[in-house]
Amino acid sequence: MPKWLDAAVFYEIYPQSFYDSNGDGIGDLEGIVRKLDYIKGLGCNALWINPCFDSPFKDAGYDVRDYKKIAPRYGTNDDAKRLFQAAHEKGIKVLLDLVPGHTSEEHEWFTESAKSNPAAEYRNRFIWTDHPFKRAENLGFIGGETERPATYIVNFFKCQPALNFGFLKPAEGWQLPMDHPDCVATREAIKDVMRFWLDAGCDGFRVDMAGSLVKHDDQDKSGTCALWRNIRAMLDADYPEAAIVAEWSCPKQAIAGGFHADFLLDFAESAGGYRSILRDYQTDEDNHIISADTSFFKKDGNHDIRRFLSEYFDHYEKTKDRGFVSLVTCNHDTIRVRYNLEPDELALAYAFIFTMPGVPFLYYGDEIGMRYLNLPTKEGGYFRTGSRTPMQWDGGANLGFSTAAADKLYLPVDPAPDAPTVERAENDPTSLLHIVRSLLKLRRENPDLQAKANLEVIHGGNGKLPFIYKRGSLVLAVNPGAEEAATSVPFTESKPVDGIGRAQGACVLKDGVCRMGPQSFSVWRV
Ligand code: NOJ
Repeated sequence: MPKWLDAAVFYEIYPQSFYDSNGDGIGDLEGIVRKLDYIKGLGCNALWINPCFDSPFKDAGYDVRDYKKIAPRYGTNDDAKRLFQAAHEKGIKVLLDLVPGHTSEEHEWFTESAKSNPAAEYRNRFIWTDHPFKRAENLGFIGGETERPATYIVNFFKCQPALNFGFLKPAEGWQLPMDHPDCVATREAIKDVMRFWLDAGCDGFRVDMAGSLVKHDDQDKSGTCALWRNIRAMLDADYPEAAIVAEWSCPKQAIAGGFHADFLLDFAESAGGYRSILRDYQTDEDNHIISADTSFFKKDGNHDIRRFLSEYFDHYEKTKDRGFVSLVTCNHDTIRVRYNLEPDELALAYAFIFTMPGVPFLYYGDEIGMRYLNLPTKEGGYFRTGSRTPMQWDGGANLGFSTAAADKLYLPVDPAPDAPTVERAENDPTSLLHIVRSLLKLRRENPDLQAKANLEVIHGGNGKLPFIYKRGSLVLAVNPGAEEAATSVPFTESKPVDGIGRAQGACVLKDGVCRMGPQSFSVWRV
């Protein structure tokens, strides 16, 4: 287990939209280099950069055409090496985004395998059926597009043919077993890509759709986990400081599969615990909220945190000493939380996320409360596009993102006259930005708040406020509601450490009682 994960706080960067250093309207790697001091000043010490590899960009880069080449719009491989080096000099680690489940349909492996006479090396690199009209049961497939007289399996969009790691229980001749030499070769090809970037200086990978690799019938994910354990063995032997973070949204499985961490996400298959604290509402097809918002952190939401706790503890208990559950403020696939939560509500949500165990992730722009914009789709983004807009730095042209003409930007910046910017937030001592900085400082200075330290629920397990939890010798309490909340606690004395929310004065922990003012968060040492 890489030691640096214990104190890691990640900053997710969507490279298209972070900072444009050369005025072409799109963010780039040099832009990230120029903003490393900002990221460090925020208190983040690790980055996750969304895919920055050569791609036709039908899914914003999750359709990789060449795993070993930085997309020209972001720079060159040398720029990536300079970024790794510059980040390391500032004590910042860098995870790239590895997309092992599928390539672009324009990847050479696929174009070769799609020929009527496929190159032997790539013949089985993707999952081909044995007939041009074969309907692959329970798997997405495409027919009629290739010379090769067969249909092929896709992993996500049509442009993303699934790489072939084999089937756990092959049921037909075209379904190869995992130990077929061609499936083993696919796994080795992915390891080769990992080695390529680790040798160039990156510190590991966020792994896209990590749970999707082995096909039927891998319900319990034993096949996919075995595959990842094989990859982890390579890391342990040759790159022991490299980290892999799964996009799986089932930490108990992902960590058994050798991942160091996995996110709890807003996935349909998840138990909904993460969703329940931040985004507990329904939307229509135009992304308008059409139901009550019952999110835990909403002032008038549903303040029963048990929905979150039961999902979280299921994973936490089963992974505690072997890996980490990652909580995120948001990501590039999810509607920004500022859409439904006000800054006062967000501050409490961040306080919670940044003081829980595991390795937290801050999505770029969430530190200033960037808004979700309802925009037409871009590069396969659909509703996600509105969470991918340019970072808002200052009051200059394009809010400081780029010197290009506004109509040349990758996506428009927030047109609102009060659009949050880093500059505005710097000048307002009560801003979210300052709150995020102070929360990350608190975490940095207290190992009890970092990844490994123990978590114990003191109050909230009965569905009532305040939610009180203990980490090492620190007791933390949060009251997202509009009314004061109090309960008895097993502590008689305490020393205040920190707190946020306007009602700080009303928060006490002593003589066996914890009393929390409305919309507040407090930390004490006991
Ligand atoms: C998950 C990624 O986060 C998402 O953006 C992408 O579209 C799919 N995987 C497919 O790679």
